[in-house]
Amino acid sequence: VSAFLAGGLPQSLGVLSGTGPHGRGLARRFALAGHDVRLGSRDAVRAAMVAERLMARVGHVGRSTAGSLSGVGNDEAAQCDVVIIAAAWEGCDEVLSPLTGQLHGKVVVSCVNPLGFDATGAHRLPTDAPSAAEHVAALLPDCRVVGAFHHLSASLLLDPAASLAGSEVLVCGDRYEAKAIVRRLCHSLTGRVGIDAGRLEMARHIEAFTAVLISINKQYGVQSGVAFPQVPALRAIEATGPMAFGELPDLHSTSESA
Ligand SMILES: NC(=O)c1ccc[n+]([C@@H]2O[C@H](COP(=O)([O-])OP(=O)(O)OC[C@H]3O[C@@H](n4cnc5c(N)ncnc54)[C@H](OP(=O)(O)O)[C@@H]3O)[C@@H](O)[C@H]2O)c1
Repeated sequence: VSAFLAGGLPQSLGVLSGTGPHGRGLARRFALAGHDVRLGSRDAVRAAMVAERLMARVGHVGRSTAGSLSGVGNDEAAQCDVVIIAAAWEGCDEVLSPLTGQLHGKVVVSCVNPLGFDATGAHRLPTDAPSAAEHVAALLPDCRVVGAFHHLSASLLLDPAASLAGSEVLVCGDRYEAKAIVRRLCHSLTGRVGIDAGRLEMARHIEAFTAVLISINKQYGVQSGVAFPQVPALRAIEATGPMAFGELPDLHSTSESA
């Protein structure tokens, strides 16, 4: 697997406004998996403090890693090969608007769920945009926007005792190659290539379904995600081993099909 990771994965990962639980969890897990992660914030000093605490926890897990984790301003995180937007829905415009220049042409991943929470649980917020991912794509028309990681809970990502092995990640987007890069990144986290869930507009359902998952998990006191044990293409790729993953389009290839 390491040959596959070295050959076809982005070298650096930026997590914009990754100071919240989900951004911290993703940053921690990706650093543990060997990526060079820049955790961003609107406040670089805060990001540095958060990254320092996370690195202490990474050390606590006792795993050696070829990766790194640093806390920086969002503008610096935006310079990475692939950039994950981990801001609260309410903050997406403020976080992304100043970064449109730096993000030009990049793969940008939205894990944003526009959800509200009240005494009855989680609910989809009324928004003008059909989905957060499509809103991000509208804000960043020169980027290749992909939706992913919506159903991985922050508490799971941050729990040193929790394994993500076997967790499925739904990945949606309108660019095959960008989606393939993110699907391979999923493999870094879970040992499974992310599931191609279709076009970016699928984010409407993926994001909203998170409220259902939260409700079920609360009701039954579990931390379940989604499972698709019979997705044949995915299982076929896994069965043929690491070399097959490497056959996915290269990160820096210029050919792109919708
Ligand atoms: N928590 C989960 O389990 C989970 C699971 C799946 C997906 N998600 C999604 O992942 C994203 C991050 O989740 P989270 O729970 O970590 O979110 P969060 O703690 O509410 O916010 C994350 C970061 O967004 C920035 N931010 C917050 N409010 C803002 C505002 N009004 N304007 C500008 N920036 C603002 C802050 O970063 P700085 O101040 O440092 O810039 C904050 O630390 C969310 O979109 C969420 O829907 C969360």
